[in-house]
Parts: sequence; C-alpha cells; structure tokens
Amino acid sequence: MAKYKIAWLEGDGIGKDVMDAASRAIDALSLDAEFVKGDVGWELWRTEGNPLPDRTIDLFNSTDCCLFGAITSKPKQEAENELVPELQGKGLVYSSPIVGARQRLELHTNMRPCKAYPGNPLNYRDDIDIVVFRENTQGLYAGVEFHPVPDEVRDVLGRNHPRMARFDDTSNDDMAISTRVFTRDGCRSIVRQGFEYAQKYGRKSVTIVEKPNVIRETSGMMIREARKISEEYPDVELWETNVDAMCMWLVKNPQDYSVLVASNMFGDIISDLCAQLVGGLGFAASANIGEDYALFEPTHGSAPKYAGKYISNPIAMMITTRLMLQYLGEEEKAETLENAIAKTIADGRVRTYDMEKRSADMEADAGKTMEVADEVVRNMA
Ligand code: NAI
Ligand code: MG
Repeated sequence: MAKYKIAWLEGDGIGKDVMDAASRAIDALSLDAEFVKGDVGWELWRTEGNPLPDRTIDLFNSTDCCLFGAITSKPKQEAENELVPELQGKGLVYSSPIVGARQRLELHTNMRPCKAYPGNPLNYRDDIDIVVFRENTQGLYAGVEFHPVPDEVRDVLGRNHPRMARFDDTSNDDMAISTRVFTRDGCRSIVRQGFEYAQKYGRKSVTIVEKPNVIRETSGMMIREARKISEEYPDVELWETNVDAMCMWLVKNPQDYSVLVASNMFGDIISDLCAQLVGGLGFAASANIGEDYALFEPTHGSAPKYAGKYISNPIAMMITTRLMLQYLGEEEKAETLENAIAKTIADGRVRTYDMEKRSADMEADAGKTMEVADEVVRNMA
C-alpha cells in the first residue's frame, strides 16, 4: 500500500493542463502515493445539478489530502440555463464547489506563499518572501447576511445598539446587512498557525493585519488574542498594522514583511496584492488547511479559452504541489521541487507567454505548459 492516498481533482478548463504538468514533476520525485481521480466542476453541475457530488465528499473522507486544479463558476441565471433540460426548472441553485469544500471540510486556514523567484521578469522586486495566513471560514464570508432585513433582526440590533437609530427611516428592503462573525477559537487558530510557521522556518516577524481602531470588537479580538499568543514565541516579533496602511506598506517596502495573518476578507485582499508583487496568477498557490484534511489549489481559475491548449503557466500548480509535500512532511522532496522551480525561472530557457509579458499565441505557445514541466524535472537532477 502506498504511504499516502491523495484525491486528484482536475476540475475544469486549464485545471487538467496544469495538473498534467504537476503530475510529471510528482512522478520524477517518486512520491510514494496513490492518486485517486475525483469529479468536480461545471460538467457535473450541468449534467447532475451538483458541482461537488457526494462521491467526491466520500473521496475527501478516504484520502489524506487533495490536489485541485481549477473550476468554472457562473452567475446564478447563467448556471441554471446551462443545466441539461431534465434538470431545468427544478429549483437547483449553483454554488461554488471550492467554497463548499472549504466549509464542509472545515478548512479553516488559507495559506498563500508569495515569494519572488529571482529572474522572473514579472517580479515587483526580487527580495520579496511573504506568507499570508488567511482565516478561511468565518468573518465577512461566513454568509450570515440579511436582505431585506427582517424586523426581528432590526429590533434586536435597535434595542441593543444606539447607533442603529440613525437608520430608523430606512425601510427593510432599502437596507442590507452582512455580518462579520469572529470566534475566539478562530482568531487563536489562525494566529497560532502564523507563529508556528514563523518559528519553524526561522521567520523574524508575524504581522497581524486588521483594523482594531475602527472595527473594535472583531479586529480587536484578533489583536488581543495575538498579543497573548505571541508571548509563547519569544523569537518572533509581533507587528500590528491596519489593513489600509498595509496596502501602502506592501507597495512601498514589501521586502520588510514575512508572515501576515488576517481575517477572511482582509486576507483575501492582501493575498491578491502580495501575489501580484511576485508575478500574479501564474505563480500564486494556496493551501486550504483544516484539523485533519487539506486541499491544495492554484489561485487562478479555469481560463476556459486556453483549456487543453497547454499554453498556461504551470508554476502556480507546481508551487501548490510543493505546499502539499510540505504538509505531508516530505520536506526534502518539497525543497527539491522548489529549487528546480527556482532554477527554471532563473534560467528562463523555457517560459510560458505570461512570463514574456505578451498575449498568448495559440499556435506558437501550444505545449509550453509541458515544456516548462519537463524543464523543472530536468532541473531536479
Ligand atoms: P482566470 O484565473 O481563469 O483567468 C484570468 C486571466 O489570467 C486570464 O486572462 C487567463 O488567461 C490568465 N491566467 C489564469 N491562469 C493562468 C496561468 N496558469 N497561466 C497563464 N495565464 C493564466 O479567471 P477568470 O477568467 O476570471 O475566470 C475564469 C473561470 O474560472 C470563471 O468561471 C471563474 O469563476 C473561475 N475561477 C475559478 C477559481 C478557482 O478554481 N478557485 C478562481 C478564479 C476564477
Ligand atoms: Mg481572492
């Protein structure tokens, strides 16, 4: 029996292209793993009315972790129109399988490394090495929202909170409320993971990116918990920065920052900013981590127009694979893969179109995805 059992979900569009590239690198590393293919994505929605069927949830439950390509999502009405005729008019509502998987598997942590590999012409600077820890299931994305706002909700808020009074003249329908729910456990977990990572990899600082001076209760709870937890890590400095100022600092001095910790929405925003500083979608990887499961995916989507052309940049998927290896405790293989990725970028012998800062040429660039993969494999030697 193989040491690891890993769910292999290609999903839609270029998901398959980049996973084929990752597969080549994994084969070269001789990882002792059994990969089990699973179903997820748009075709499943169209034909079965569910982009994340129960058999895929079962697959999660019988594997150690999951490697995920990309999926296609569309707005509600468009999604309904694309259902096969038998499923239309049945009240099926599309919801993103990736958001669904995060919630059903309680993948409470989203970790995104944003490291500049020298030689990448898309780098903002070559000395950036930031890792973002974003809380993945609570906060503004928890989905506790109201529109129109029910009387009961208004009564409760109004009775307990004098600041609601100035909205008294606004009708229920003219008001929308999205809540920002933090739990102490949620705050402690994301902060602790930032500090654990910093300690393990010799990082000098953890920066909490919130806004406690204005959002006193939720951001405040995060900061207060961070101050307590930081005392257990004397070798790591705790820095506190407001999210708006952080955006300026990241553009001004990104090389000063190391580990960033933020709640769901702030983490979503700053991780996109950080990713673009080191090359953007072709280089942005993420790990969704829970207590006993993890799902690894590149940040990019399914880029339908490039599907099956093998012109997309596979490096984001390769970095994603490296994160999976680290999660499994395969530090040596993770390092071998990372060094090979770094050398491939530094040499610049084979590049996908995005690294050359031009539009893709469907014919001339066809096959580049696998050429980059082969170059990474050569550079492992
Ligand atoms: P996208 O990430 O698929 O593409 C955006 C742009 O970046 C395109 O110009 C594409 O050509 C380029 N690009 C993306 N990945 C690339 C790569 N590896 N190498 C080179 N260029 C790359 O985002 P878009 O176009 O907004 O969405 C397309 C579909 O993907 C939609 O259905 C969307 O809902 C879905 N999506 C899925 C995500 C996921 O699976 N987690 C995340 C983002 C979007
Ligand atoms: Mg995002």
